[in-house]
Amino acid sequence: RQAAVSDKPRENITWHPSLSRRERNELRKQRGFTIWLTGLSASGKSTVATALEQHLLHLGLAAYRLDGDNVRFGLNKDLGFSEKDRNENIRRIAEVAKLFADSSTIAITSFISPYKADRKIARDLHSATGQGGDESIPFIEAYIDIPLEVAEQRDPKGLYKKARAGEIPNFTGISAPYEAPDAAEIHLRTDELSVEESVAKIMEYLYSQSLLV
Ligand code: PPS
Repeated sequence: RQAAVSDKPRENITWHPSLSRRERNELRKQRGFTIWLTGLSASGKSTVATALEQHLLHLGLAAYRLDGDNVRFGLNKDLGFSEKDRNENIRRIAEVAKLFADSSTIAITSFISPYKADRKIARDLHSATGQGGDESIPFIEAYIDIPLEVAEQRDPKGLYKKARAGEIPNFTGISAPYEAPDAAEIHLRTDELSVEESVAKIMEYLYSQSLLV
């Protein structure tokens, strides 16, 4: 039996309003937002994201980390590393992060997210939630910055070596681009900072913006 699927599904879909985000945040006693980590493979995104998540949880805050390798095992297992697939990878993750943040959770994403345009789409998606009288969901970009040579020396998964040998096509930094942010809210040189110092800098930013009240 064929499913009755419209060619224009959005025409037959209705948005159901719920509590306002302000009311939800007040009831949960926490403001939801997204911290978007971006950087080369082996830059330390996952390490910083994990330590930050633990720090926030120990403070009694709801925080959840969405991570590159993990999401690609499930939600995005149909996607590879072509430009088009990375666009779709980031688009879906941005939507999921927005939902977590809308539920008054701190969403921490750690994806290479190499294209500026994709990160802008993620940011704009969050900004757009500000329509209709409710304040928008904050989006904080954190650039996890290390020189390519350092990432390549670290090479914890041996991927740079394989990419140099031509065994992995479209490898970020080697045969595919990484477009560094120009004006990320947070800039961390993770080759010069300890993990604890990186977390402390992020926390400093969050407190300075009154995001943890
Ligand atoms: S992206 O660009 O944001 O869609 O990538 P992401 O979802 O973060 O996935 C990055 C992890 O996938 C592994 N991997 C690759 N990275 C870059 N380029 C290619 N071609 C590639 N193939 C596999 C790699 O382990 C990345 O993990 P991290 O944690 O970033 O090192």
